Amino acid sequence: MGLLSHCTLGLVVDVLVAYFMSIKKNGGSSIVSDIKKEYDYIIVGGGSAGAVLASRLSEKEEVTDLLLEAGGEETENPLFHADWGYYTEPQKFSHFGVKGNRSYWPQVKVLGGSSILNAMIYNRGSRYDYDNWASQGCTGWAYDDVLSYFLKSEDILIPTLKDSRFHNTGGYLGVSLARVTPFVDYYLKAAEELGFKIVDYNGEEFEGLADTQFTIRNGERSSTSRSFLRPVMHRKNLHVSSHSSVVKVIIEKQVAVGVEMVRGGRKYHIYASKELGIPVIADLPVVDNLQDHLMLAVTAGVNITGSFTKKAMSSWWTFAQYFLFGTGYLSSFFLEVVAHVHTEIGREYKSAPDIQLFFISGVPNTDIIELRDDIRNETRSRLPEEGFLGFVGLQHPKSKETIRLRSRDPFDPPIIDPNYLAEEDDVKTFIRGFRVMEKYLATKTMQKIGVTLNLLNLKPCGGYEFLSDVYVECLVRHNAVTIYHPTSTCKMGSPKDPTTVVDPQLRVKGIGKLRVVDASVMPDITSGNTNAPIIMIAEKAADVILER
Ligand SMILES: Cc1cc2nc3c(=O)[nH]c(=O)nc-3n(C[C@H](O)[C@H](O)[C@H](O)COP(=O)(O)OP(=O)(O)OC[C@H]3O[C@@H](n4cnc5c(N)ncnc54)[C@H](O)[C@@H]3O)c2cc1C
Ligand SMILES: *[C@@H]1O[C@H](CO)[C@@H](O)[C@H](O)[C@H]1NC(C)=O
Ligand SMILES: *[C@@H]1O[C@H](CO)[C@@H](O)[C@H](O)[C@H]1NC(C)=O
Ligand SMILES: *[C@@H]1O[C@H](CO)[C@@H](O)[C@H](O)[C@H]1NC(C)=O
Repeated sequence: MGLLSHCTLGLVVDVLVAYFMSIKKNGGSSIVSDIKKEYDYIIVGGGSAGAVLASRLSEKEEVTDLLLEAGGEETENPLFHADWGYYTEPQKFSHFGVKGNRSYWPQVKVLGGSSILNAMIYNRGSRYDYDNWASQGCTGWAYDDVLSYFLKSEDILIPTLKDSRFHNTGGYLGVSLARVTPFVDYYLKAAEELGFKIVDYNGEEFEGLADTQFTIRNGERSSTSRSFLRPVMHRKNLHVSSHSSVVKVIIEKQVAVGVEMVRGGRKYHIYASKELGIPVIADLPVVDNLQDHLMLAVTAGVNITGSFTKKAMSSWWTFAQYFLFGTGYLSSFFLEVVAHVHTEIGREYKSAPDIQLFFISGVPNTDIIELRDDIRNETRSRLPEEGFLGFVGLQHPKSKETIRLRSRDPFDPPIIDPNYLAEEDDVKTFIRGFRVMEKYLATKTMQKIGVTLNLLNLKPCGGYEFLSDVYVECLVRHNAVTIYHPTSTCKMGSPKDPTTVVDPQLRVKGIGKLRVVDASVMPDITSGNTNAPIIMIAEKAADVILER
């Protein structure tokens, strides 16, 4: 698929394919064992976007849909899912504290995609994100245009928000709060002390601090496969095929006519066509404009109890609470509050905020970041028993870079180079964001529970004055890591704009019957977290495709 492998993850090919099929019952689901001769729509990738799209397109009984997912079913093994195992190239301006200076990009290969393992934060972003898209030529994607699609998905389970015009009940996606620790009261008090508004960040006002809204229903994850796909898998016009890797989109005379897929070691030439090979089919800048959010974790020890400690996690009461009532530590992600702030004076409430802060009520001893041995040892040796992690996240990076193909083999991982923090402005924004966190942790409320910044000592930065700007820069360049929101490599916008790949109907420029529907079409990354915006994109795409 060459041109498209980096945009991937949810391509819709308005394509017709050839074969016969039967449906094999698989644990109550309907996974196709043989592929039919012809479908109206083929969706490549059953992740956050693909699962939603398949669910919505198949609402129209007279169209037939095939969803092809490279991974297995999310129900096969709820605890383990294959990972695409991607790492970025060694970074020149960041990740100095991480092994090999590379950023690890977990991307699950499973029905439901990254919605199967993400942190479940439900965050639509700022209205200004979408208004900015519209001003860049994405007609029909301003906030007031897309709000109805956020609402369409949603089943708000937060009683106080049921009557809000920004929320909806009855949609597929359960959205709820998951407060579990007594820390939340302190987070809120400290915010008020600083003058932050306490808001519904998916409502009228995005800026401020709030209880995190999660894609959780009754203590269980609302992944897109579980919430959008499972309820409709019985539909006769929808076929889902797992363990099915698409290796090529078959293009004839600039029109996408089929896909080549590999399943169970067998290659399916679903539609025979002359080989096109990998070289770029249309001269489009597919791989530029890559954007992602970086975050710096600030560890804070406290002298109160109740955080998510190993001990609390393994107590019998914790298990009983979860299994009996679906509540407690195991039902939550401990990421209890989130805040969005503008660090540039004068821009508040007028544009998308530049920093996200969030707080995890515990200091987990995990290795997902793969810190350099010396730094990991230093950090671990002083992890407090009770405490929290405050995160400072850069929202709108100016450093934008590329994904390129490593080879003509579609199974080779791509070359990913986000070039994090190449632009000085990104570091400056980070430092301003850190200063907000510093003030927050210096509030009377935080001092009262014994918070100090002593845990931010880092030997490699020891040559600088502790917590000076250069010190914070050093900290950020060593320890800031991705929050797993890569987007924007298949930029949507006006077809006349040479930097765009898809038009506002998500059609790939220069190729007929081929659309991209996923994180990659965002012309600029949204503020906050990406899952809800991607679900919205798929909701809108379904209407655009079906001309509803
Ligand atoms: C650890 C982690 C935590 C996160 N936390 C949050 C959070 O709390 N809140 C939030 O909003 N966002 C979060 N995100 C981000 C969010 O989950 C992703 O942005 C979103 O799921 C991406 O959706 P997608 O449809 O673009 O891609 P994906 O969900 O990654 O789906 C792509 C799918 O396509 C399949 N696929 C790829 N290539 C092929 C092929 N050639 N043939 C067939 N199938 C293929 C893949 O296997 C995968 O299932 C997190 C992400 C990660 C990794
Ligand atoms: C990682 O970054 C450090 C600090 O700049 C540098 O000394 C080292 O050579 C880099 N390592 C790799 C593998 O690029
Ligand atoms: C880190 O700690 C491990 C285990 O205690 C030890 O074996 C290793 O030598 C340490 N590495 C460094 C670089 O300090
Ligand atoms: C927690 O620390 C603060 C600041 O040092 C102190 O005033 C307070 O008494 C301590 N509380 C407890 C319960 O130890």
